[in-house]
Amino acid sequence: MDVHRRRAKITGVGAYVPPFVLTNKDLEQMVDTSDEWITTRTGIKERRIMTQPNTASSDLGAEAVKQLLHKTQTDPNEIDLVICATATPDMLFPDTANVIRDKVGIRSGFGFEISAACSGFLYALETGAKFVESGLKKVIVVGADKMSSIVDYTDRTTCILFGDAAGAVLLEPSDDDTGIIDSVLESDGMGRNYLYQKGGGSYHPATHETVENREHFIYQEGRTVFKFAVNGMVQSIKKLMQRHHLSKDDIQWVVPHQANMRIIQSISNMFEFPLERIMVNIHKYGNTTTATIPLCLWEWENQLKKGDALILTAFGGGFTWGSIYLRWSYDPPATEQASPPDVE
Ligand code: ACO
Repeated sequence: MDVHRRRAKITGVGAYVPPFVLTNKDLEQMVDTSDEWITTRTGIKERRIMTQPNTASSDLGAEAVKQLLHKTQTDPNEIDLVICATATPDMLFPDTANVIRDKVGIRSGFGFEISAACSGFLYALETGAKFVESGLKKVIVVGADKMSSIVDYTDRTTCILFGDAAGAVLLEPSDDDTGIIDSVLESDGMGRNYLYQKGGGSYHPATHETVENREHFIYQEGRTVFKFAVNGMVQSIKKLMQRHHLSKDDIQWVVPHQANMRIIQSISNMFEFPLERIMVNIHKYGNTTTATIPLCLWEWENQLKKGDALILTAFGGGFTWGSIYLRWSYDPPATEQASPPDVE
């Protein structure tokens, strides 16, 4: 590793979850399922849904970014770049990052979107870090997903999994040995056959038929995805640990994508990471796709200390997967917030 390389560090975290709670009990009224099945198979008890009309992923993202700017006392016009990871863009174009920039009032710099499903936040974080390493001073990385806009609430195999949320981090140059140290990011397009939203793109533009065939919703072969997810996350963590000669005791926190408690448990077992050092909030929010990792960082911000070693890991549609190794850059902020705010 080049020790003289300029490094990017996370200097703040913001998040937003909508106030409406959809519980497993509610889902029992909608599809043939049970609280018991959902809890034992996934670990999810409830998820948040954006119910306000005429809102989109950008509204979730804008709330998270506004909070981030407020908490870090950052002037919107100091921002050089906003990268938005999302699987539920407001529209195919223009990109959601620029809609967020407009809603927040960021007029400086530029923005763009990254599409890598549930690994989107990690891909965006690594991309943002590279921009900081090459000279930019303030980069926002936001994961925002209104998953309820593409969930088929008649399909019990997927509708129990997903929720709506956004999370954002500020990246700035690091002047010490903390910050984003290394990443392993991988993908395999073969996976497109197992997890997709077929309709609405150039392959199957929207028609009456695509609507009738429910092609505008998520389709997933859960069992296959499960196996690849465990393997992808485990292998990428292993590569990082080997590369940096890390043992499980060198890592203070593991921040896994929240797709299934059984996947998180497998990672815990595989590396003998105690569950107390793995961030888990899947029971409250379900799988919020690109928002899960920043939402965890947000919730645990008050427990993170400067110098803590973190491994972030994710797997998603594509297939895409990977892990990031970083050292946390600040002690808990003075003003504490116990959980993500329920704005409005
Ligand atoms: N309630 C009751 N029964 C159900 C439900 C439900 N909600 N959903 C499925 N079942 C039934 C199935 O029909 C099946 O019945 P059968 O045996 O009679 O055929 C049985 O339960 C078992 O189904 P499986 O699909 O094998 O269940 P599994 O234990 O694999 O759990 C799940 C499904 C939760 C989806 C799991 O496979 C999983 O988490 N997969 C990985 C998800 C993931 O990591 N995705 C990547 C990120 S998402 C993204 O990128 C957008």
